[in-house]
Amino acid sequence: TIHRDLAGRHVVITAGPTREALDPVRYLSNHSSGKMGYALAAACAARGATVTLVSGPVSLPTPPGVERQDVTSAEEMLAAVESRLPCDLFIACAAVADYRAAHVAEHKLKKTEDESGLTLALVRNPDIVATVAARADRPFTVGFAAETQSLETHAGSKLERKRLDLIVANDVARGDRGFGSDDNAATLLWRERDETRRQPLPLQSKRRLADAILDHVVERLP
Ligand code: PMT
Repeated sequence: TIHRDLAGRHVVITAGPTREALDPVRYLSNHSSGKMGYALAAACAARGATVTLVSGPVSLPTPPGVERQDVTSAEEMLAAVESRLPCDLFIACAAVADYRAAHVAEHKLKKTEDESGLTLALVRNPDIVATVAARADRPFTVGFAAETQSLETHAGSKLERKRLDLIVANDVARGDRGFGSDDNAATLLWRERDETRRQPLPLQSKRRLADAILDHVVERLP
């Protein structure tokens, strides 16, 4: 059953990892494949939304009917997202690097004489979803929480700290879900009448999970 219940809505989605350069040939990144964010983009488009997918470096085809903008670093991802606002719904599925190199070396870093190792200085990246949620014209803002322990406690504090409308908590310590796999499970957390409410969603394909998340969002969209 296909309901075009997002017709007339503009949705912006981030997906994939970011890459933070250390020098011209090396970077810091993570294992995000982009599958979860691309599944959300496909599901939003199938439900009639105008979809902008701001994507880190992944090797996935663009879902039909989706406009895609490719970026590399967290700072580029934030600029791309801000250029697409305002929108009705923002979904932050990207695994954004929390830190980048304090200085990107102009030339390839050389091994030092020192056998003890190398220390990299890192600085904080901007928080994209918190920046969007802090705007006066904020969209309905959905974040993800990728956790390896105390899933709901950590996700609950991200929900509040980043001032999100909804957080999708997923366990990334298991091989059958999370990063890279075709399937995922999640617990949705949101605030309602001064209480934190929860809705677990079972392990299923990322495409089906995307629709289950959107069923919940559509009910609450202003
Ligand atoms: O791409 P796949 O291989 O399909 O894997 C999917 C996934 C595991 C990457 C995805 O389901 C997921 O959990 N995405 C969020 C990953 C993450 O970085 O989570 P976090 O708990 O570190 O961040 C919390 C939230 O803040 C996320 O919505 C994140 O997009 C956002 N964030 C984080 C840091 C930052 N600088 N800016 C942000 O917007």
